[in-house]
Amino acid sequence: MKLTVVGGGSTYTPELVDGFARLRDTLPIEELVLVDPAADRLELVGGLARRIFARQGHTGRIVTTSDLDAGVDGADAVLLQLRVGGQAAREKDETWPLECGCVGQETTGAGGLAKALRTVPVVLDIAERVRRANPRAWIIDFTNPVGIVTRALLRAGHRAVGLCNVAIGFQRKFAALLDTAPAEVHLAHVGLNHLTWETGVRLGGPDGEDVLPRLLAEHGDAVAADVRLPRPLLESLGVVPSYYLRYYYAHDEVVRELRTKPSRAAEVAAMERELLAMYGDPALDEKPALLARRGGAFYSEAAVDLAAALLGGGGSPYQVVNTLNRGTLPFLPDDAVIEVQAAVGPEGPAPLRVPALDPLFTGLIANVTAYEDLALDAALRGGRDRVFRALLAHPLIGQYEYADALTDRLVAHNREHLAWA
Ligand code: G6P
Ligand code: MN
Repeated sequence: MKLTVVGGGSTYTPELVDGFARLRDTLPIEELVLVDPAADRLELVGGLARRIFARQGHTGRIVTTSDLDAGVDGADAVLLQLRVGGQAAREKDETWPLECGCVGQETTGAGGLAKALRTVPVVLDIAERVRRANPRAWIIDFTNPVGIVTRALLRAGHRAVGLCNVAIGFQRKFAALLDTAPAEVHLAHVGLNHLTWETGVRLGGPDGEDVLPRLLAEHGDAVAADVRLPRPLLESLGVVPSYYLRYYYAHDEVVRELRTKPSRAAEVAAMERELLAMYGDPALDEKPALLARRGGAFYSEAAVDLAAALLGGGGSPYQVVNTLNRGTLPFLPDDAVIEVQAAVGPEGPAPLRVPALDPLFTGLIANVTAYEDLALDAALRGGRDRVFRALLAHPLIGQYEYADALTDRLVAHNREHLAWA
């Protein structure tokens, strides 16, 4: 099996490689290709990746290259984990929205739209080249904003599945709180990428006992602290929102907080410098503890599980993925991309049935889906007016004065990445 990682020079890659090494029985990789335009990073990350494989006795070959076409040639699956413009562009996304009193975040709100505009054309170009090299290859998209990027890929007819680590993170945390094995915990997980709620926590599988009420009663403080929302709010909702819902339920509080501290991008950039220095040490042959301070915990497990299921070798029978709605949430168009539990096999994901949802959730999901549709239109066709329409439709923006001011800033800060600006 040949697996290619586009954005393989990311400082996150050792997390992925560590998972590939540990879980090689689930996903037997013969060749792992790391593709990245940044040759210097690729060399550092590739060196550590080889040492991780060697230490764990993995006999797979690791190839590094800056030639995308050569890298994807013959790949069975291609994982996308790139960041157009790097942390410098992210830093801007997290900063200028604050000038208008709006949240500055890499995937949510105006910053997320900027990221979508920079990213969608690049990802579509890569996907075309993957298809040319092997029309049967699966594309696993980690590239944010995952909902919009996956929608772009699926609309263009690619064999793509979007993936995020929020669900697997909850599964692991809940399993620890309930003192059981992660595989025993089946989440009823619903919404859009970075806009999800755990509406049930079932033991043993989708029809198992729902222990969410018990989890909230016995461990409500821990769960609330984890998503950084007040426990009474969780009790009132009766479900567990992901921490990305904090940008909605506590928007103004978050804006006040963000204004008083350095951006996450600046923090991450500092960590990356430290990580790359460590990766250059030939004595290092495992992922360093510092990597745990990044947000990507467990993403290697999620990737292995998904790739194994798509490539026919196993993996968990049900997985949380980003895929076409196709009637699963009846209040959304069929071609919306939703994040839900699905049965995954070689033909792709088939979403499990989702019980009727409270309007408290359907309203927001429908609103953000409409925004994502307009965001994709702006990413594909460009133009100031399309950017404005997407921002006006976003539930965290909504007023024309804000949408106007944010549009100006978005365009001004992203000119070099936007062909039409
Ligand atoms: C989580 C999210 C990812 C996001 C990451 C950011 O893992 O699911 O989509 O990219 O956090 O982590 P960072 O360490 O870059 O802030
Ligand atoms: Mn994510």
